[in-house]
Amino acid sequence: MNILLTGSGGREHALAWKLAQSPRTGTLFAAPGNAGIREEAECVDLDISDHAAVIGFCKRNDVRLVAVGPEAPLVAGLADDLNEAGISVFGPRKAAARLEGSKSFTKDICRQYGIPTADYATFGNAPEALAWLEKKGAPIVVKADGLAAGKGVIIADDMPAAQAAIRDIFAGQFGAAGAKVVLEEKLVGEEASFFAICDGKTALPLATAQDHKRAYDGDEGPNTGGMGAYSPAPVMTQEMRARVMEEIIHPTMRAMRDMGCPFTGVLYAGLMITEKGPELIEYNVRFGDPECQPLMMRLRTDLVDLMEAAALGDLKGGSVEWSDMAALTVVLAAKGYPGAYDKGSVIEGVGEAGADPLVKVFHAGTARREDGALIATGGRVLNVTALGETITDAQGRAYAAAEKIRWPEGFCRSDIGWRAVEREKSGA
Ligand code: AMP
Ligand code: GLY
Repeated sequence: MNILLTGSGGREHALAWKLAQSPRTGTLFAAPGNAGIREEAECVDLDISDHAAVIGFCKRNDVRLVAVGPEAPLVAGLADDLNEAGISVFGPRKAAARLEGSKSFTKDICRQYGIPTADYATFGNAPEALAWLEKKGAPIVVKADGLAAGKGVIIADDMPAAQAAIRDIFAGQFGAAGAKVVLEEKLVGEEASFFAICDGKTALPLATAQDHKRAYDGDEGPNTGGMGAYSPAPVMTQEMRARVMEEIIHPTMRAMRDMGCPFTGVLYAGLMITEKGPELIEYNVRFGDPECQPLMMRLRTDLVDLMEAAALGDLKGGSVEWSDMAALTVVLAAKGYPGAYDKGSVIEGVGEAGADPLVKVFHAGTARREDGALIATGGRVLNVTALGETITDAQGRAYAAAEKIRWPEGFCRSDIGWRAVEREKSGA
């Protein structure tokens, strides 16, 4: 079967690597891809926002399955248009992608179906939001309703910060994404990511992970797309995973079916594990980046089988097999990221870093220069991913590999996995 994968990050390289391993994959196309994806797939120049062009490409190249990496094409309705043209898609249709595209949509489902989440209210103008804030007080979390490239959440620890955030969003800081504002209670606990694969009716648990959103060691500095991740997340015990399926994922699937927009694809629940148990912070309708990278290192089941079953409504009775090993990803980013950074610097040593069979270096913002040199073209550039018997072991292996990469213009955090490593040290 010919497959088209959309996207160009480390997540998509990990997906391409896994899809290419399947005996069922014919030609794997990627649009636009990167220098690492090019080793697994045929990269094509295709404008993903031009749905007619994507359909034309799939028809001409006998593509039967389109796997969508990032959320934007899903929120824009790519799956709807491809489905109408008879092409299967791994990823939700537009109405179901609202789970990520609108925070108030998701919060309303939580309220209606009793899904544990922070108490909240939604506002369409600043005066009402400010009045509610007066009653509630700080700390409070202020969120732009729509997609804001991961920047639309402000944790306000005092009233002036909360008031400024509300005013900024309604003044257009995030454009149309800030037409509505969600104010919610600040949850206290440990964060974890939980992934489930869904076919509209059935949801199967995938695996758990933990992300490191801040740029610098000790979880300091500005928020980023993610500087590293590991799987599994020790805080997600068997009991906790069962509760997430029962209290959060299954009711969400039921809600989406009841509304006539069944959810297919990957449901990524961002959770806070509080004293009361798991609470939903937010949903994403795709794999996490970089969380997908350790997940793909651990996945044993054929990814083509899984994606196809999700797209066709055939997950019932299925199961997903995982390696018992842990996996950990260290992101190498361009100095300056998540702020301004230079592009075009040369990276060496990636081959040496990936020589260990338990290590895989996934590419994000990379390209090949005409002379064959590997160059950096983005903020997050490489994802050094390693397997290990424990998170501590995977961490050691990933950093040993990262040290072999010669890229003076790049940096990475030196403490990815610290929470799990501390847990392992204390034997908890
Ligand atoms: P997002 O950009 O939507 O992924 O949210 C960014 C981060 O904000 C989350 O990963 C959490 O760390 C934090 N966050 C969002 N909502 C809450 C909340 N209600 N309580 C505490 N932290 C939150
Ligand atoms: N790493 C966070 C995300 O993919 O949303």
